[in-house]
Amino acid sequence: TNRLTVNEQGHLTIGGLDSVMLAEKYGTPLFVYDVEKIRNNARAFVRTFAKHNVKAQVAYASKAFSSIAMVQVAKQEELSLDVVSEGELYTALKAGFPVDKIHFHGNNKNLEELKMAVEAKIGCIVIDNFYEIDLLASVLEEKHATMDVLIRVTPGIEAHTHDYILTGNEDSKFGFDLTNGQAAKALEKILSIDSIKLKGLHCHIGSQIFETDGFVMAVERLFEKLAEWKEQYQFTSEVLNLGGGFGIRYTTEDEPLPLDKYVESLIDEVSKQVQKTGLEFPELWIEPGRSIVGDTATTLYTVGSTKDIPNVRKYVAVDGGMTDNLRPALYQAKYDAVIANKAKQRNEEKVSVAGKCCESGDMLIWDIDLPAIEANDIMAVFSTGAYGYSMSNHYNRFPKAAVVFVEDGLDKLVIKRETYQDVIQNDLSYEEE
Ligand code: LLP
Repeated sequence: TNRLTVNEQGHLTIGGLDSVMLAEKYGTPLFVYDVEKIRNNARAFVRTFAKHNVKAQVAYASKAFSSIAMVQVAKQEELSLDVVSEGELYTALKAGFPVDKIHFHGNNKNLEELKMAVEAKIGCIVIDNFYEIDLLASVLEEKHATMDVLIRVTPGIEAHTHDYILTGNEDSKFGFDLTNGQAAKALEKILSIDSIKLKGLHCHIGSQIFETDGFVMAVERLFEKLAEWKEQYQFTSEVLNLGGGFGIRYTTEDEPLPLDKYVESLIDEVSKQVQKTGLEFPELWIEPGRSIVGDTATTLYTVGSTKDIPNVRKYVAVDGGMTDNLRPALYQAKYDAVIANKAKQRNEEKVSVAGKCCESGDMLIWDIDLPAIEANDIMAVFSTGAYGYSMSNHYNRFPKAAVVFVEDGLDKLVIKRETYQDVIQNDLSYEEE
């Protein structure tokens, strides 16, 4: 792979540091983020809007990887932040993220979450459904407050991606349908409530999308409606939030566009639609998660057992799996890997990489060519920065992995490895004391 950087000992390096040294120092499984890459991805988005003089907010979708340190990097890069739960909001507040740049998402926000958002005076709530309109109105009344909102609409688009990460189609649990009149009803209702300040529309068509045509079509459909609503309700969308979903490269099979190209296709189409409809050019917001952090982390594992089934397959097991990376089991997602301590050696065998959970589906990679593997080798799996740690779990009571940030030749632990005490900390005894 072209992303391989190797030192004199033949060890894979990450952000200039020896990955084998990091595995020894912090143990495995270990997520290692190259922070410079995070910054570069973020800046690619921000710069492209600036270059085209488009007023914009780039909101990091923190569901991809939320932690105090990560939110701080987003803050340093002057991004906005998309949160989808009280937990992500809590993390953002604890990290000192500027509240006016926090956007709150979710298809079932509850009273507690809305209260927390209103009390914290966050920048914007993205309204998903009728239940939420009522709930938010009641919270605002009780607190004598107002709140800026966007309406989340589903434009009826089938993007080319896995069904589970498709979100812009009509049959979706998210948002108001743009085509069947529901979005217009939501608009009417929201316009009638003084404390809810409608700033514009939001749509997100899906995730890990490579082509720009889905985004372009979404913009087209939004403008069609906006033109209608301008006539009918004198409503102007100051803000248009076009969501995230920009694809990244996991393996050589993936062919994403450079990040600026996604942004440019959005700007181009909005310009076209503005000309066509005579509407004002809105402020553009996007919400990339995966494309900011996905290709910036590598997971390091230690190899343990192997099982060779002659003429069938050789399994190589590592000390993590679906507990730290659920994506292969959940979406048949593919990853690329190397043996970190043998990064210069020639590939000699085809193996399949298994996790250590009691579950046949707990496989990280099927059929990958690697050098001859022995126990205690360090395996490095690439592009695990998005939806890896954030979807990690305690199946089989494995403690969660540690996370290290690497920048300027320095490594810093940013999430501690869980201990067994952490794993049982909420368990209570059922025996007489
Ligand atoms: N905005 C909204 C409203 C979203 O629902 C999402 C992702 C994003 C932004 C960020 O999308 P991104 O830029 O990261 O593609 N767990 C799945 C991905 C689920 C995405 C959910 N929503 C995975 O591991 O592929």
